[in-house]
Amino acid sequence: MGNPGGVSLVSAKEAPLSAAKCAAMRFQKSRFLHGYAKGKASWDPSYPAVAGILHHSHRPLLDVGCGVGLLAAYLRESGCTQPILGIEPDAEKVRTARDLVAGCYPDLDFREGDARSLPEFSGDVVLLDVLHYMEPADQRFVLESVAARIAPGGCALIRTTFRDSSWRYLATMIEEVFVRASGWIRGGHCHFPTRQEIETAFQSPHLSPSIRPMWGKTPFNSHLIEIRRAGG
Ligand SMILES: C[S@@+](CC[C@H](N)C(=O)[O-])C[C@H]1O[C@@H](n2cnc3c(N)ncnc32)[C@H](O)[C@@H]1O
Repeated sequence: MGNPGGVSLVSAKEAPLSAAKCAAMRFQKSRFLHGYAKGKASWDPSYPAVAGILHHSHRPLLDVGCGVGLLAAYLRESGCTQPILGIEPDAEKVRTARDLVAGCYPDLDFREGDARSLPEFSGDVVLLDVLHYMEPADQRFVLESVAARIAPGGCALIRTTFRDSSWRYLATMIEEVFVRASGWIRGGHCHFPTRQEIETAFQSPHLSPSIRPMWGKTPFNSHLIEIRRAGG
């Protein structure tokens, strides 16, 4: 077990890197996965951003499109202790998450499933880089399902690229071609939503969405949308 209690002996600046290294250690059995996990957890700015927002939450967390469970490991290594349920349609990734991550920390569950048929749930929700694998009508449905699962006082954190005329959008599309050619993501749709489509989906007096760039040092057009539900 890495750091289940969240006791940190490193500085605030070093903390994300330390969490990334420890989370990546879970994948040491596979050279490829270990390299992927180390790179992703160290470079992706959404991981420390999500950990920072969820750090004090005691609500359960639904991680939609959880892949191999890297975010869950990263959150635990960052001191987040809430129960986490990961949903992922790729059976092999779910097996990896169960084999390499679930047993290392308390209260982690990984299940095969799809964003279009989410289980009943109330808490916080994360959906990082998943939306564009679905067609627009499904995206609207998934955003509604996500909103319905945010507990009073809770939040949903969605990272996506916005479809626009920027060079960053072009760079993201080129990356998608390589990701698919590598076999890491298997086929399917590639339809990035516009900023307006996302904003429209969360127009409700009970929800307050805020959007900020989340590309870090990458050339991609990534943004993090934080949707808060009033109450709690
Ligand atoms: C780019 S990866 C991101 C993984 C993880 N969210 C992260 O940020 O580390 C996208 C994931 O979304 C999953 N995915 C694709 N279509 C999905 C769907 N309809 N419902 C849920 N997950 C899906 C893929 O299998 C893949 O694991």
